[in-house]
Amino acid sequence: MKSTAQNNSSQEGQRVLPRHLGIIMDGNGRWAKKRGLPRSMGHRAGAANFKKIIRYCNSIGIECLTMYAFSTENWKRPKEEVGALMVLFKQYLKDALKEFLKENVQVRFIGDSSVFDEGLQTLIRKNEELGRTKNGMILNIAMNYGGRAEIVQAARSLAKQVQAGTRKPEEITEEALSQQLYTAGQPDLDLVIRPSGEYRISNFMLWQSAYAEYIVMDILWPDFTPENLEWALDEYANRNRRFGGV
Ligand code: IPE
Ligand code: IPE
Ligand code: MG
Repeated sequence: MKSTAQNNSSQEGQRVLPRHLGIIMDGNGRWAKKRGLPRSMGHRAGAANFKKIIRYCNSIGIECLTMYAFSTENWKRPKEEVGALMVLFKQYLKDALKEFLKENVQVRFIGDSSVFDEGLQTLIRKNEELGRTKNGMILNIAMNYGGRAEIVQAARSLAKQVQAGTRKPEEITEEALSQQLYTAGQPDLDLVIRPSGEYRISNFMLWQSAYAEYIVMDILWPDFTPENLEWALDEYANRNRRFGGV
């Protein structure tokens, strides 16, 4: 029987990159605290780094990148912090994303954007429309995203199809459910990097990360550099993925 093991180094000895990379951008608050600054300044520094790392991923040929920017649980934070994050999102959708679009990046948003204010929703829509005309790296920006909410939403739409008689219950397969997720058509996550030293998933892409490699790094997100990313990519390339096989 064919082995399911996947050696991450290609036969030519070239390093194999993850097709789909996810980054949990964590540690902005601690970065600010260490400097005696308000948390919002940490988010500002994190947003600047977001731009730098995305550009770097695009330059090295990552096919698909998902950046976790705001979770469905982050609304629990103080009103001022959430407000500051929304202001930052607007600024970034106006400036940085224009640049990504110039670089042929397919910008997409994953998560429930219907709760954002009208201005932010318009920016999201505009960026997505422009993103659809590109064919470079796919960039999923996860905003008001939760892995559980995503699966619930997928289950609901499958249930509606069954109710309408367009799908049989036996036709609810892993493939069918995958096709209802925000990431339909994209490869599953190969690698998830979490800076800030926290060993947890925090509701990030629960379905898509079933066999993803995890790398936790003891660096706060605003300090995370392309060199740190290179280190993680080397580590990934040296891992032996078995997918349950031998
Ligand atoms: C991540 O940094 C940014 C968001 C969740 C929006 P944090 O704000 O969680 O930073 P820490 O974890 O408190 O340091
Ligand atoms: C995860 O970070 C969410 C994002 C980075 C957007 P959190 O800081 O919200 O996660 P917890 O609370 O430490 O698990
Ligand atoms: Mg955090």
